[in-house]
Amino acid sequence: MTMHQPIAGTVFPPDTLETMAALYPRAAGLLHHRLPDHPLLSIEALAALAESLPAAQVEYNPGDVPIGIAPEDLPSNGLTIAETIRTIDVNRSWAVLKNIESDPAYRALLMDLLGELQPVVEPRTGAMLTPQGFIFVSSPGSITPFHFDPEHNILLQLRGTKVMHVWPSGDERFAHRREHERYHTGGHRNLPWDDGYRGAAQQVPLVPGDAVLMPVMAPHFVANGDAPSISLSITWRSEWSYRESEAHAANAWLRRLGLNPAMPPRWPDHARVKTVGWRIARRLRLVH
Ligand SMILES: [Fe+2]
Repeated sequence: MTMHQPIAGTVFPPDTLETMAALYPRAAGLLHHRLPDHPLLSIEALAALAESLPAAQVEYNPGDVPIGIAPEDLPSNGLTIAETIRTIDVNRSWAVLKNIESDPAYRALLMDLLGELQPVVEPRTGAMLTPQGFIFVSSPGSITPFHFDPEHNILLQLRGTKVMHVWPSGDERFAHRREHERYHTGGHRNLPWDDGYRGAAQQVPLVPGDAVLMPVMAPHFVANGDAPSISLSITWRSEWSYRESEAHAANAWLRRLGLNPAMPPRWPDHARVKTVGWRIARRLRLVH
């Protein structure tokens, strides 16, 4: 990843980089940020951005949904994305703007923030690959259902409050290997939910100025507080995270052949042998 030189240390304070050095990439935890009120992150700017993005880069629905829900059961809120953002205070909705790096101004902001993290990230997981940014705009009381994501991620809370409920990555009690295999062969991010999971959650309450470090594929759901919320997610991939994805996809293929492959190893181990086989099989067009 090539980055222009950020103004060093302006957003993530030294104690946050120390915390991150202890946690990354295995564990979730509370961090802090000093991202000020930024003109690109006002409601009006976000509504304009949302209107300018292709439909595939916006997703929104009513926010008062159950913690566990299948994607096909999510209803529409009956509004446009711009209306959803402009009236987020009262419309009981949840919205995400995806891949905001497709807009040059937002890409510059994303790269500045990721640049500050490079000294912590690169000694542990190597080059920061595939920088992506996501902005979540959500109404009081809304829920982001139980799911997992393939990126290394820090979510910065900018406005309003929320509680991140997160479970350990790679623990099959909360996301079985078959769920990983399903996801990495084109399935949706949402996961099956069981109320019995609650007791094992790590809860990270977030107010403006807080951020949360999220490990790759850690199951989570998010509950908004009683004010409208804006959060910025800054994400990257690593060679390790791509290998892990490929290993799960390879396992899905092995399972279709009647085998029961093991979970791929967690960082710092790589699933080398299996993914080499997977890459060869793909090249030979044995799998898709
Ligand atoms: Fe997520």
